[in-house]
Amino acid sequence: MSEMEVKNRFWVMKNLPEGNDFESALEIKEESKIEIPEGCFATKNSFISMDAGTRMYMTEREDSYQPPIPIGEKLMGTVLGEIIESNHPNHKVGDVLRSYGQWSDYSVVDPNSMYPSKVDVSETNLENYVGIYGANGWTAYVGVINTGRVKAGDTFVVSAAAGCTGLMAGQIAKISGCKVIGIAGTDQKCDLICKEYGFDGAINYKTENISDKLKELCPEGVNVYFDNVAGSTLDAVLENMANFGVIAVCGLLENYASTERLPGPYNYDLILMKRLRFEGFFSPDFYHREAEINPILKNWDKSGLLRLPIEVTDGLENLVSAYSKLFEGSNIGKVVVKV
Ligand SMILES: NC(=O)c1ccc[n+]([C@@H]2O[C@H](COP(=O)([O-])OP(=O)(O)OC[C@H]3O[C@@H](n4cnc5c(N)ncnc54)[C@H](OP(=O)(O)O)[C@@H]3O)[C@@H](O)[C@H]2O)c1
Repeated sequence: MSEMEVKNRFWVMKNLPEGNDFESALEIKEESKIEIPEGCFATKNSFISMDAGTRMYMTEREDSYQPPIPIGEKLMGTVLGEIIESNHPNHKVGDVLRSYGQWSDYSVVDPNSMYPSKVDVSETNLENYVGIYGANGWTAYVGVINTGRVKAGDTFVVSAAAGCTGLMAGQIAKISGCKVIGIAGTDQKCDLICKEYGFDGAINYKTENISDKLKELCPEGVNVYFDNVAGSTLDAVLENMANFGVIAVCGLLENYASTERLPGPYNYDLILMKRLRFEGFFSPDFYHREAEINPILKNWDKSGLLRLPIEVTDGLENLVSAYSKLFEGSNIGKVVVKV
């Protein structure tokens, strides 16, 4: 165990958020030293990744894929930073890496909690390691290619289509030769994904009837649905699935603020009628595939086929406004906080 005297600001929950009111639920605190246990290291953070899924750990639900973050404890997520002190033989001072750490100026990282990985900033900006070259990029890739098993000519639909994961999933399906339809929350996002990102069509779920619009845009039926939201959107897509279609379950945005488990889709019977495959996938299950997936993503990135805008919020103290964007829908692409 070692100690470092540093001014470290960090975010905690003072109470569980009601709905998406993070302003009243989160607070920033400060300490004057950090303790680094044996086998761990400390990073000085440059960027903190804002991930919609973290909302699940801000509830009391024990049945999520990770336990809730207790009130008063430091909030956690993916951070990018440089090691400034290490009590681990393989992680050296000066290494720049992506790891699972606190939402703070300095993170104390236990490399066993979720494996950290060294990043190479000679070819791309550091923040891209929580975008195309990070968990969102791998999630989009695995969801489309391995879980969705798309084929050229398939009709592919993705929700939260202008957000980080959805925008990449749509582009990867396009690269794979699919017809791609995105579902998003504003006309501006719908225009953007079609005009700038090559989607073949878009639906504004706030102003249009998803089921009717899908019938119009995909009369042949949907072969693969990359589901980021569940709930009523899933029901609308179920009505439009083609026989033997696939629902790749990535996220549950409509449900994250709920304190209880919500009932399954109203259209459950259509899973049988249309002989559908439902399959969930979760990024820590494929972190070990970074060396295989990142070169593929890198080729697409370099050739301009896969693009991801990154919205940077300056200052740890402004983290709440950055995090809220994901639930207000005011982001396009990835949201990060620059520390
Ligand atoms: N399975 C995995 O391993 C894994 C890994 C990473 C992410 N994910 C999932 O991927 C999804 C996207 O996450 P992200 O971090 O990339 O965030 P993001 O898509 O960049 O941001 C979230 C977007 O979702 C939309 N949204 C918010 N609340 C919604 C609601 N109630 N109904 C419909 N749309 C809503 C908003 O855009 P609109 O304007 O369109 O509303 C917002 O921009 C989440 O479900 C997340 O849990 C899963």
